[in-house]
Amino acid sequence: MTSVELSTPSVGKYTQPTGLFINNEFVKGVEGKSFETINPTTEEVICSVHEATEKDVDIAVAAARKAFEGPWKKETPENRGKLLVNLANLMEKNVDRLAAVESLDNGKAFSIAKGDVGMAAGCLRYYGGWADKIEGKVIDTNTDTFSYTKQEPIGVCGQIIPWNFPLLMWAWKIGPAVATGNTIVLKTAEQTPLSALVAAELIKEAGFPPGVVNIISGFGKIAGAAISSHMGIDKVAFTGSTIVGRQIMKAAAMSNLKKVTLELGGKSPNIIFNDADIDNAISWVNFGIFFNHGQCCCAGSRIYVQSGIYDKFVQQFKARATANKVGDPFAADTFQGPQISQLQYDRIMGYIDEGKKAGATVVTGGERHGNKGYFIQPTIFADVTEDMKIVQEEIFGPVCTISKFETEEEVLHSANDTTYGLAAAVHTQNLNTALRVSNALRAGTIWVNQYNMLHHQVPFGGYKESGIGRELGEAALANYTQTKSVSIRLGDALFG
Ligand code: NAI
Ligand code: MG
Repeated sequence: MTSVELSTPSVGKYTQPTGLFINNEFVKGVEGKSFETINPTTEEVICSVHEATEKDVDIAVAAARKAFEGPWKKETPENRGKLLVNLANLMEKNVDRLAAVESLDNGKAFSIAKGDVGMAAGCLRYYGGWADKIEGKVIDTNTDTFSYTKQEPIGVCGQIIPWNFPLLMWAWKIGPAVATGNTIVLKTAEQTPLSALVAAELIKEAGFPPGVVNIISGFGKIAGAAISSHMGIDKVAFTGSTIVGRQIMKAAAMSNLKKVTLELGGKSPNIIFNDADIDNAISWVNFGIFFNHGQCCCAGSRIYVQSGIYDKFVQQFKARATANKVGDPFAADTFQGPQISQLQYDRIMGYIDEGKKAGATVVTGGERHGNKGYFIQPTIFADVTEDMKIVQEEIFGPVCTISKFETEEEVLHSANDTTYGLAAAVHTQNLNTALRVSNALRAGTIWVNQYNMLHHQVPFGGYKESGIGRELGEAALANYTQTKSVSIRLGDALFG
């Protein structure tokens, strides 16, 4: 069996594929293994899915290679674009089912999951538009030579994605890789295999040839490691923890020097100046850290507030954070659902205990929410020092710190004093302050008077240890193309 009947509160019964999606078919793993996926809201098993091991990665890579060398090579750019647009349309048509599966497996609110599906479709459609606009250059060196460049696909791409935005990360990876003519073996996170398999059905329905996009469920240490060290994979793209990012780079270096792009962690500063519109700023700061239960690589987890508004800000932010509705993802007014797993719950509670022990003040939260599911109260720490673990390390949960600052120079020093550099934000009504601070912050994305507003047209990625390469926008095409230079002799022989 490679499917199972499941039910969600929002769409009722549906058929959930559980196989490995290889060559447009759902198949069992060669070793016959499977693993369970847990509903983080109830801590109960949802179902089992088939597990890919090294041998299945080999099979998926062979399928992707055959497609790449075969019919896919002959596919016109225009048709590659059409396929992505078809897929985007099908995702929109199935938004309720996809979002329900996402909420079931990941725990995010159904209303927010619907937003994720919309953004995933938008991203795929955007890259569908790029497919027939990938162009080279003619380079004039001298009259005896005609030189031009072509942007060619890299080949078979391994893609390893995390559990915090299962469908959105799926789209971010598939869109630019398909637009540029590559084929794919994508491994989902072991915590959230389900929505990608439902979306895999749509890949077939959209008309993709077999083997172009293969989706496998499996564990990082087995299937993920097999991808990053595979001799038949030309490129690996990864989103997840910095520690695993390093392992992937090492595996790529030790195998075939496959190209590597990485989207890793962050500890992003969110800076509020005295002159900010305080009500707007609090709304964005709240969204910046508590959206997706704090499970965002770009979460605004270090909040710096200028001294003139500090006391007022802390008081108002506390009120705002406690008003966030925590609970059942399928309830209409839920903003924050459970953390993804027992392991993540334990890690986050460990950080909260560290903060308390280090002497930071709990402004609000700091405890479990309820007694079933991996829920944690929105938590704000004040009276922190820069050396505390809760200020230095990525917590990846609904936990932030607030620090008081006096001058721009001082806050810039603190904001940039991190090994990460994914995102940062500044809240001010002074245009000069906004631009000066944006220029001085060492991060790949800067938000002014907003937070967490990503758009598929705008590049996203990390400075420093937050990553290599850029996703989204035109920039992501570079992750999936290589430049070929062709030089043609027009003149006579140069050397007698
Ligand atoms: P992780 O980095 O272990 O998992 C992400 C993906 O990598 C999953 O698909 C996993 O199966 C795969 N993976 C794990 N080990 C691998 C290996 N050796 N080779 C190849 N692939 C491997 O992240 P995890 O443990 O789920 O979360 C731990 C922390 O990572 C979080 O607390 C957070 O700080 C960070 N994280 C960051 C994300 C981001 O969006 N940048 C997303 C998820 C986690
Ligand atoms: Mg799950």
